Amino acid sequence: MHYIHCLNNISKYGTDLLPESYELTDEFDKATGILVRSAAMHDMEFPESLLAIGRAGAGVNNIPIDRCAEEGIVVFNTPGANANAVKEIVLCALLLGSRGIVDGIEWCRENADDENIAKAAEKAKKAFAGREILGKKLGVIGLGAIGAEVANAAIDLGMDVYGYDPYVSVGAAWRMSSAAHHVTNIDDIFRECDYITIHVPAMESTIGMIDSHACSLMKDGAVFLNFSRDTLVDNAAMAEALESGKVHAYITDFAVPEVMGMEGAIVLPHLGASTAEAEDNCAMMAVRELVDYIDNGNIKNS
Ligand code: MLT
Repeated sequence: MHYIHCLNNISKYGTDLLPESYELTDEFDKATGILVRSAAMHDMEFPESLLAIGRAGAGVNNIPIDRCAEEGIVVFNTPGANANAVKEIVLCALLLGSRGIVDGIEWCRENADDENIAKAAEKAKKAFAGREILGKKLGVIGLGAIGAEVANAAIDLGMDVYGYDPYVSVGAAWRMSSAAHHVTNIDDIFRECDYITIHVPAMESTIGMIDSHACSLMKDGAVFLNFSRDTLVDNAAMAEALESGKVHAYITDFAVPEVMGMEGAIVLPHLGASTAEAEDNCAMMAVRELVDYIDNGNIKNS
């Protein structure tokens, strides 16, 4: 019998795939495999029985992968399984950064009791006028599963899309639309694009890559989106860029105190992959990977 311990709530669609020779257990200490979503595992001591960890999601920064490698524990992630969910929220964020949607909703809440609401709404309509994304330049930093989905969807929406990825070619990532441009110098993304969205993992070479220098290169009034990891952005530098008006809108999927409450900042509590469908897809992929490794020794997405 193999024992699987879930550190977070893992979709039943995933755990139902476990074969009969597997059992879910509440006992961490006897786990053969662990399923995890966002729980931080850095301080955990792993049981000797542990063979593999399945991360139901793309990032593995909550797992001590170097220590796992030393201890012979294989770590799997689920690339692409939540890409559609993130793509959809990024498309939403592009519009949130362009139209007075957030201000408009807040205004309506605050003015619900106004007896002259129709007249007041005329003024609000002017105050919250926005701009369209059609024909605007979008820079996509990172063309993995999520970045490629975002880039293709933005092309379909009529945006002029520029992609940067030192490891992935445009041909591999996109349908080679003539609307897609490949940029080899990331600074060109900062300099040229009206909207920039980042889709890279957090690692030594990427942590803090959106710093005050990057912000200073951006076009005046740029919109910056971060649905990857909070640590990619120097949030104090971003707060300054927002304060000065250099960055018109910063939409981040992380509750970073540096920008919370600032005008132009739209802050979300890591909702990018939080859909029922993405949770099911990630759980199913993670379970299949764990079982395939434990039963057959096959290693995929490790
Ligand atoms: C990911 O790395 O794919 C996300 O952080 C997943 C999640 O929200 O759990």
